[in-house]
Amino acid sequence: MRWLLPTILGMVVIVSCSGEKTRVISEESPSAGQTGSAAIEFSPPSPDTIPGSRLGEQIRLGYKIVVNTQEYARPYVGNRLNCTNCHLDGGLNPNAASFVGLASVYPEYRPRSGRVNTLADRVNECMERSLNGRAFPPDSSKLQAVVAYITWLSRGVPTGATISWRGLQRIESRRPLDPANGKQVFVNKCAFCHGFDGLGTMAAPPVWGPQSYTIGAGMARVSVAAAFIKSNMPRSWGWSLSDDDAYDVAAYINAQPRPDFPGKVNDWPKGGRPSDATY
Ligand code: HEC
Ligand code: HEC
Repeated sequence: MRWLLPTILGMVVIVSCSGEKTRVISEESPSAGQTGSAAIEFSPPSPDTIPGSRLGEQIRLGYKIVVNTQEYARPYVGNRLNCTNCHLDGGLNPNAASFVGLASVYPEYRPRSGRVNTLADRVNECMERSLNGRAFPPDSSKLQAVVAYITWLSRGVPTGATISWRGLQRIESRRPLDPANGKQVFVNKCAFCHGFDGLGTMAAPPVWGPQSYTIGAGMARVSVAAAFIKSNMPRSWGWSLSDDDAYDVAAYINAQPRPDFPGKVNDWPKGGRPSDATY
């Protein structure tokens, strides 16, 4: 996965250069009666500064798993993706479901599982759904390493803070989906890197087919993929597609064959299924 390296190395630059996209978290003042809120900059530490201690080694392993899941979590991965293909720049990109601050929001109730998820549970959900793989066992050193990395990235973000950069910034489509336009957008603006067959190339990972994310992945929902594509694709040219084009191409991609997710039968046990879930 050599093609990942330039983007990883460019990470610090991307994060610090995108001034207009710098999102800010505001922490509600804990003391009643105060109206001021402390704004906290999106300023995660660079992985270059992971300490050399034993904990640092664990954090560094977590970072490696995130940027090169194929190698460092090999027996658990079931497709050709790495975490960083979606959580761009090792989870440090504020436009791509960043990991920064997440240790301060989990555990959290999630309607899809119908229970309180720990951060480790959430990592395993992406292992099973986005990577079409197996969950790490609870005592797995790899799982603990990923959690340690995310926890390290969350330093300085207080528990209960509202993380303004959290998740993918959702967009709206103003007209019905147009799959023919979606195909056209894909051919013109995506196939160059992802391949006309969507199966990926040396330059980019697959967006459909047996090596792609499962139908149970967040990315398999059109609104989620549209949000990701709008802000990040074509790679390095985020925010260049119209909202309608982002939706249409997301619908096109997600209409193509991809792995099933048998665990889907247990999803949203207490309701709350989003309308664009495919099952
Ligand atoms: C210049 C090459 C390039 C172009 C053009 C491009 N992508 Fe990507 N795309 C990438 C790379 C590289 C990644 C992985 C990013 C990383 O690991 O840093 C990616 C990741 C993705 C992902 C998430 C990972 C996956 O494979 O499921 C999706 C979805 C995606 N691109 C969709 C699109 C769509 C839709 C378009 C067209 C609008 C597009 N891309 C255009 C290079 C490109
Ligand atoms: C195919 C794309 C994809 C891949 C690969 C992927 N994820 Fe995700 N992940 C997502 C999406 C989409 C979300 C939900 C974002 C949202 O709700 O806005 C998500 C959410 C998460 C969250 C929760 C984020 C939050 O704000 O609560 C964590 C933690 C996470 N992923 C970890 C991982 C880890 C670790 C890996 C690698 C083992 C991974 N993901 C691989 C797409 C992916």
